[in-house]
Amino acid sequence: CGIVGYVGGQSALDVVIEGLRRLEYRGYDSAGVAVLADGALVSDKKAGKLANLEKSLTESPLAVGPTGIGHTRWATHGAPTDANAHPHLDNASRVAVVHNGIIENFASLRAELAERGHTLLSETDTEVVTHLLAEHFEPSGGDLAEAMRRVCRLLEGAFTLVAVHADAPGVVVGARRNSPLVVGRGEGENFLASDVAAFISHTREAVELGQDQVVELRVDAVTITDFEGNPGTFREYHVDWDASAAEKDGYDYFMLKEIAEQPKAVADTLLGRIGTDGRLRLDEVRIPDQVLREVDKVVIIACGTSFHAAMIAKYAIEHWTRVPCEVELASEFRYRDPILDRQTLVITISQSGETMDTLMAQRHAREQGAKVLAICNTNGSTMPREADAVLYTHAGPEVAVASTKAFLTQLVACYLVALYLGQVRGTKWGDEITEVIEQLAAMPKQVEKVLDTMEPVRDLARSLRDATSVLFLGRHVGFPVALEGALKLKELAYMHAEGFAAGELKHGPIALIEDGLPVVVVVPSPRGRSVLHDKIVSNIQEIRARGAKTIVIAEEGDETVVPYADHLIRIPVTPVLLQPLVATVPLQVFACELATAKGHEVDQPRNLAKSVTVE
Ligand code: G6P
Repeated sequence: CGIVGYVGGQSALDVVIEGLRRLEYRGYDSAGVAVLADGALVSDKKAGKLANLEKSLTESPLAVGPTGIGHTRWATHGAPTDANAHPHLDNASRVAVVHNGIIENFASLRAELAERGHTLLSETDTEVVTHLLAEHFEPSGGDLAEAMRRVCRLLEGAFTLVAVHADAPGVVVGARRNSPLVVGRGEGENFLASDVAAFISHTREAVELGQDQVVELRVDAVTITDFEGNPGTFREYHVDWDASAAEKDGYDYFMLKEIAEQPKAVADTLLGRIGTDGRLRLDEVRIPDQVLREVDKVVIIACGTSFHAAMIAKYAIEHWTRVPCEVELASEFRYRDPILDRQTLVITISQSGETMDTLMAQRHAREQGAKVLAICNTNGSTMPREADAVLYTHAGPEVAVASTKAFLTQLVACYLVALYLGQVRGTKWGDEITEVIEQLAAMPKQVEKVLDTMEPVRDLARSLRDATSVLFLGRHVGFPVALEGALKLKELAYMHAEGFAAGELKHGPIALIEDGLPVVVVVPSPRGRSVLHDKIVSNIQEIRARGAKTIVIAEEGDETVVPYADHLIRIPVTPVLLQPLVATVPLQVFACELATAKGHEVDQPRNLAKSVTVE
């Protein structure tokens, strides 16, 4: 969910709505605002996208006031209805609360409140907080921050809360446990949001709240304490990208812009990390070389698209370093009692740095004594803050829910880590490592080349708009690429799409092949491990013989596939392990175009959110 709070000289409603627009990627099941104006609390909230709320506000405008809060929701407790939308108000309409996360003991708190005579209107856990705040406000001497601290001490679970009270004009109070909350410091105004994107057009001076802290915002003061009221420690920082980075820049969708930005994102992620002597410089990874030499197992944890980057990293790490590498979905890892020790290097991969499943897995790994390296795109987010070391991807803000440029930069970061481990430990692949570092430096240009040849892929996607199912096949690093191609199509086009390891085809999935079924095949380079190539060419023949419409992604100059490809998509020649950097791009374009042809909203697919801050 996205949260915004404002206090200052501007109309709070305007600032909050603008902030919500920039946070809509965090959820768009419903949106709502509450504003303090002349001692009264006024509020409006609507199910559906922010546009519904804006329409309602145009039809019946709210009173203008300098203090306000807002929320854009990804539904957890309760359906996405008007009543379940945030903010939630108490029975007397004096206090309003917005919330992100899950309050685990809400059922018992709710029962206690009902016993004390409160009438709860919605099915959400948030409303419980509203009533508790209303109860604690007077006993706290009318100090909303103190009331918030008292309430937080009663809550279990993960939560970020922001509240205003009609009897505390000019005050916005926030509380944080787990999901992020950032203060924006302005001149005579202050902001509070789940992401700096919400206030970046007003100020670039940010303060990141720590765990279990409460913040009180006034026009000219920001006070941060822990839940007991002791002064809190926090981190101040300057945001180094500007508002235009979070604009569409003439593209119809963020996703199109983000696909187009990939060559730059890849280049930025490599920048400064390859020395003039051709060796990697990852000084920012503050894990001493000696510790990296002693690592005897690598475990990579991630979710969604980031998990596919992790799968590819395994091939690279095991090949270049000969260190065993496990890859696991964060939600599975955390609860199966994994075996870790001080010689295990755990790598978490997350665009946002706040995905709850991955964060919990990371915490679990650290508790077991493992060293954790976070690969992350969001500066100052929770995972890099808590990890032993961080390697940032420099994709810039990614707004479209379906990840594209962040994925490519995650791959780059994984290659860098794998090559660096190889460099530090010394491996028999020393020469190959030197060569690959050189070729990695050339990848931005190769990605650019792919983007320049995407028109036929778009035509193909449009021609398949009535298809009901698409399969994706790959081998080796092409297998995770196939999974990513299928995921993109599910996310954007709401189609049945599945990725398979091509070798598994004969063990079951081949039964799915029927006349005209589109099957995308990612073909490994015929150079290097040519046995892989030959095997997949056989697989293409097998499916084509059974009626599949074959869409083949193959390296330039690979002529062997030509007779079996109904559609051929060419990608540049790259080292075997780096191929995903170019092979993924056509699949992103394919899914985006197919979804658009079906009339779907590409940036905000149904039911999804970009940052999932619940387990
Ligand atoms: C959500 C998004 C996915 C993303 C996943 C992991 O489900 O919709 O696109 O891959 O979270 O996100 P992370 O920020 O941890 O990379």
